[in-house]
Amino acid sequence: MTKNNTRVLVVFYSMTGNVAKLAKEVANGAGSVPDTEVRIRQVDELIPKDKFNDIMKKVKEELKDIPMATMEDLEWADGIAFGTPTRYGNMSSQMKNFIDKTGGLWMKGALISKVAGVFTSTSTQHGGQETTIITSMVPLLHHGMIILGVPYSEQALFYIDHVSGGSPYGASSVSGPMADRSPIENDIVVAMALGKRIAEVSKKITGK
Ligand SMILES: Cc1cc2nc3c(=O)[nH]c(=O)nc-3n(C[C@H](O)[C@H](O)[C@H](O)COP(=O)(O)O)c2cc1C
Repeated sequence: MTKNNTRVLVVFYSMTGNVAKLAKEVANGAGSVPDTEVRIRQVDELIPKDKFNDIMKKVKEELKDIPMATMEDLEWADGIAFGTPTRYGNMSSQMKNFIDKTGGLWMKGALISKVAGVFTSTSTQHGGQETTIITSMVPLLHHGMIILGVPYSEQALFYIDHVSGGSPYGASSVSGPMADRSPIENDIVVAMALGKRIAEVSKKITGK
Protein backbone atom coordinates (compact mmCIF):
# COMPACT_ATOMS: atom_id res chain seq x y z
CA MET A 1 0.00 0.00 0.00
CA THR A 2 1.34 3.39 -0.94
CA LYS A 3 0.60 6.69 0.70
CA ASN A 4 -1.28 7.72 -2.47
CA ASN A 5 -4.01 5.17 -1.96
CA THR A 6 -7.42 6.53 -1.08
CA ARG A 7 -8.14 5.60 2.54
CA VAL A 8 -11.58 4.49 3.64
CA LEU A 9 -12.46 3.66 7.22
CA VAL A 10 -15.56 1.57 7.99
CA VAL A 11 -16.32 1.99 11.68
CA PHE A 12 -19.28 0.28 13.28
CA TYR A 13 -21.00 -1.03 16.37
CA SER A 14 -23.02 -4.24 16.19
CA MET A 15 -24.63 -6.16 19.03
CA THR A 16 -26.24 -9.02 17.15
CA GLY A 17 -24.22 -9.02 13.94
CA ASN A 18 -26.37 -7.32 11.32
CA VAL A 19 -24.53 -4.02 11.13
CA ALA A 20 -21.29 -6.00 11.12
CA LYS A 21 -22.49 -7.82 7.98
CA LEU A 22 -23.35 -4.52 6.32
CA ALA A 23 -19.95 -3.13 7.37
CA LYS A 24 -18.24 -5.96 5.50
CA GLU A 25 -20.19 -5.14 2.35
CA VAL A 26 -19.57 -1.39 2.63
CA ALA A 27 -15.87 -2.26 2.94
CA ASN A 28 -16.08 -4.56 -0.11
CA GLY A 29 -17.66 -1.76 -2.11
CA ALA A 30 -14.94 0.70 -1.08
CA GLY A 31 -12.26 -1.87 -1.79
CA SER A 32 -13.61 -2.39 -5.31
CA VAL A 33 -12.32 1.07 -6.25
CA PRO A 34 -8.74 0.78 -7.52
CA ASP A 35 -5.96 2.07 -5.26
CA THR A 36 -8.17 2.17 -2.18
CA GLU A 37 -7.05 0.96 1.21
CA VAL A 38 -9.84 0.00 3.61
CA ARG A 39 -9.76 -0.33 7.38
CA ILE A 40 -12.62 -1.96 9.28
CA ARG A 41 -12.91 -1.07 12.94
CA GLN A 42 -15.50 -1.49 15.69
CA VAL A 43 -16.19 0.80 18.62
CA ASP A 44 -16.00 -0.01 22.30
CA GLU A 45 -18.78 -1.95 23.96
CA LEU A 46 -20.58 -0.28 26.88
CA ILE A 47 -22.57 -3.32 28.04
CA PRO A 48 -20.77 -5.15 30.88
CA LYS A 49 -19.52 -8.60 29.82
CA ASP A 50 -21.55 -10.36 32.53
CA LYS A 51 -24.73 -9.01 30.91
CA PHE A 52 -24.01 -10.54 27.47
CA ASN A 53 -26.60 -13.06 26.28
CA ASP A 54 -25.69 -16.08 24.13
CA ILE A 55 -26.18 -14.25 20.82
CA MET A 56 -23.99 -11.38 21.94
CA LYS A 57 -21.28 -13.78 23.10
CA LYS A 58 -21.36 -15.49 19.71
CA VAL A 59 -21.18 -12.19 17.81
CA LYS A 60 -18.35 -10.87 20.02
CA GLU A 61 -16.42 -14.04 19.26
CA GLU A 62 -17.02 -13.62 15.51
CA LEU A 63 -15.86 -10.00 15.63
CA LYS A 64 -12.93 -10.46 17.97
CA ASP A 65 -10.29 -9.97 15.28
CA ILE A 66 -11.64 -6.58 14.19
CA PRO A 67 -9.63 -3.91 16.05
CA MET A 68 -11.22 -1.18 18.11
CA ALA A 69 -11.35 2.20 16.34
CA THR A 70 -9.06 4.97 17.50
CA MET A 71 -8.88 8.69 16.84
CA GLU A 72 -5.89 7.93 14.64
CA ASP A 73 -8.11 5.80 12.39
CA LEU A 74 -10.39 8.80 11.87
CA GLU A 75 -7.43 11.07 11.08
CA TRP A 76 -5.94 8.45 8.75
CA ALA A 77 -9.07 8.17 6.59
CA ASP A 78 -10.08 10.26 3.59
CA GLY A 79 -13.61 8.84 3.77
CA ILE A 80 -15.48 7.24 6.65
CA ALA A 81 -18.58 5.03 6.77
CA PHE A 82 -20.27 4.94 10.18
CA GLY A 83 -22.47 1.91 10.97
CA THR A 84 -24.81 1.66 13.95
CA PRO A 85 -27.89 -0.33 14.91
CA THR A 86 -31.01 1.76 15.39
CA ARG A 87 -31.86 2.52 19.00
CA TYR A 88 -35.28 4.15 19.31
CA GLY A 89 -34.77 5.88 15.98
CA ASN A 90 -31.26 7.07 16.76
CA MET A 91 -27.69 5.80 16.79
CA SER A 92 -26.56 3.39 19.51
CA SER A 93 -24.95 4.72 22.69
CA GLN A 94 -21.77 2.85 21.75
CA MET A 95 -21.42 4.80 18.51
CA LYS A 96 -22.36 8.05 20.26
CA ASN A 97 -19.74 7.32 22.91
CA PHE A 98 -17.15 6.95 20.17
CA ILE A 99 -18.23 10.15 18.43
CA ASP A 100 -18.24 12.01 21.74
CA LYS A 101 -14.53 11.22 22.07
CA THR A 102 -13.73 13.24 18.95
CA GLY A 103 -13.61 16.64 20.65
CA GLY A 104 -9.86 16.88 20.17
CA LEU A 105 -10.26 16.24 16.45
CA TRP A 106 -13.03 18.83 16.28
CA MET A 107 -10.79 21.42 18.00
CA LYS A 108 -8.20 21.08 15.28
CA GLY A 109 -10.65 20.60 12.40
CA ALA A 110 -9.17 17.21 11.63
CA LEU A 111 -12.26 15.80 9.94
CA ILE A 112 -13.14 18.88 7.86
CA SER A 113 -13.84 17.93 4.22
CA LYS A 114 -13.47 14.23 4.82
CA VAL A 115 -16.26 12.28 3.17
CA ALA A 116 -18.82 10.42 5.29
CA GLY A 117 -21.75 8.05 4.93
CA VAL A 118 -23.95 6.18 7.39
CA PHE A 119 -25.54 2.73 7.52
CA THR A 120 -27.87 1.07 9.99
CA SER A 121 -30.08 -1.91 10.76
CA THR A 122 -33.49 -2.04 12.43
CA SER A 123 -35.66 -4.93 13.51
CA THR A 124 -38.76 -3.49 11.84
CA GLN A 125 -39.37 -2.08 8.40
CA HIS A 126 -40.52 1.33 9.63
CA GLY A 127 -38.51 1.35 12.85
CA GLY A 128 -36.45 4.43 12.14
CA GLN A 129 -33.70 3.66 9.65
CA GLU A 130 -34.03 7.05 8.03
CA THR A 131 -34.17 8.97 11.32
CA THR A 132 -31.13 7.07 12.57
CA ILE A 133 -29.13 7.81 9.45
CA ILE A 134 -30.14 11.47 9.27
CA THR A 135 -29.58 12.15 12.97
CA SER A 136 -26.23 10.37 12.82
CA MET A 137 -25.22 12.85 10.15
CA VAL A 138 -25.70 15.82 12.49
CA PRO A 139 -22.45 15.40 14.47
CA LEU A 140 -20.65 14.64 11.22
CA LEU A 141 -21.80 18.01 9.88
CA HIS A 142 -20.45 19.65 13.04
CA HIS A 143 -17.12 18.11 12.07
CA GLY A 144 -17.38 19.69 8.62
CA MET A 145 -17.60 16.36 6.88
CA ILE A 146 -18.99 16.03 3.36
CA ILE A 147 -22.04 13.79 3.70
CA LEU A 148 -22.97 11.26 1.05
CA GLY A 149 -25.97 9.01 0.55
CA VAL A 150 -26.80 6.62 -2.27
CA PRO A 151 -28.23 8.24 -5.42
CA TYR A 152 -31.26 6.80 -7.23
CA SER A 153 -29.04 5.84 -10.15
CA GLU A 154 -28.59 2.75 -7.94
CA GLN A 155 -31.44 0.57 -9.22
CA ALA A 156 -31.52 -1.42 -5.97
CA LEU A 157 -33.23 1.56 -4.32
CA PHE A 158 -36.33 0.79 -6.41
CA TYR A 159 -36.64 -2.77 -5.12
CA ILE A 160 -40.03 -3.53 -3.52
CA ASP A 161 -40.43 -7.31 -3.84
CA HIS A 162 -39.40 -8.11 -0.26
CA VAL A 163 -38.91 -6.18 2.95
CA SER A 164 -35.55 -4.50 2.46
CA GLY A 165 -33.38 -1.62 3.55
CA GLY A 166 -31.46 0.88 1.48
CA SER A 167 -32.48 4.49 0.87
CA PRO A 168 -31.03 7.66 -0.60
CA TYR A 169 -29.82 8.38 2.95
CA GLY A 170 -27.63 5.31 3.23
CA ALA A 171 -27.47 1.53 3.49
CA SER A 172 -29.58 -0.52 5.88
CA SER A 173 -31.26 -3.85 6.61
CA VAL A 174 -34.32 -5.14 8.43
CA SER A 175 -33.31 -7.86 10.88
CA GLY A 176 -36.72 -8.95 12.25
CA PRO A 177 -37.96 -9.24 15.84
CA MET A 178 -35.19 -11.69 16.83
CA ALA A 179 -32.48 -9.74 14.95
CA ASP A 180 -31.68 -12.91 13.02
CA ARG A 181 -32.69 -11.89 9.49
CA SER A 182 -29.45 -11.12 7.67
CA PRO A 183 -29.18 -8.34 5.08
CA ILE A 184 -30.78 -9.56 1.85
CA GLU A 185 -29.06 -9.37 -1.51
CA ASN A 186 -30.61 -5.99 -2.27
CA ASP A 187 -29.30 -4.56 1.02
CA ILE A 188 -25.86 -5.85 0.12
CA VAL A 189 -25.99 -4.12 -3.27
CA VAL A 190 -26.83 -0.80 -1.59
CA ALA A 191 -24.17 -1.28 1.11
CA MET A 192 -21.55 -1.92 -1.57
CA ALA A 193 -22.77 1.11 -3.53
CA LEU A 194 -22.35 3.30 -0.44
CA GLY A 195 -18.81 2.06 0.17
CA LYS A 196 -17.88 2.47 -3.48
CA ARG A 197 -19.25 6.00 -3.57
CA ILE A 198 -17.38 7.01 -0.44
CA ALA A 199 -14.15 5.74 -1.99
CA GLU A 200 -14.78 7.36 -5.36
CA VAL A 201 -15.72 10.77 -3.93
CA SER A 202 -12.83 10.64 -1.45
CA LYS A 203 -10.51 10.01 -4.36
CA LYS A 204 -11.86 13.01 -6.26
CA ILE A 205 -11.69 15.32 -3.28
CA THR A 206 -8.16 14.36 -2.29
CA GLY A 207 -6.91 14.22 -5.88
CA LYS A 208 -5.23 10.89 -5.14
C1 LIG B 1 -32.46 -0.78 23.03
C2 LIG B 1 -32.84 -1.14 21.64
C3 LIG B 1 -33.55 -0.23 20.87
C4 LIG B 1 -33.93 -0.55 19.57
N1 LIG B 1 -34.63 0.37 18.85
C5 LIG B 1 -35.12 0.01 17.63
C6 LIG B 1 -35.95 0.91 16.88
O1 LIG B 1 -36.15 2.06 17.23
N2 LIG B 1 -36.48 0.45 15.73
C7 LIG B 1 -36.27 -0.82 15.26
O2 LIG B 1 -36.84 -1.21 14.25
N3 LIG B 1 -35.42 -1.67 15.91
C8 LIG B 1 -34.86 -1.28 17.08
N4 LIG B 1 -34.03 -2.13 17.76
C9 LIG B 1 -33.59 -3.36 17.10
C10 LIG B 1 -32.19 -3.24 16.44
O3 LIG B 1 -32.02 -1.99 15.84
C11 LIG B 1 -32.04 -4.34 15.39
O4 LIG B 1 -32.16 -5.59 16.00
C12 LIG B 1 -30.72 -4.26 14.62
O5 LIG B 1 -30.82 -5.10 13.48
C13 LIG B 1 -29.54 -4.70 15.46
O6 LIG B 1 -28.34 -4.54 14.74
P1 LIG B 1 -27.10 -5.47 15.12
O7 LIG B 1 -27.51 -6.89 14.80
O8 LIG B 1 -25.98 -5.02 14.25
O9 LIG B 1 -26.80 -5.28 16.57
C14 LIG B 1 -33.60 -1.81 19.03
C15 LIG B 1 -32.86 -2.72 19.81
C16 LIG B 1 -32.49 -2.39 21.08
C17 LIG B 1 -31.70 -3.38 21.90
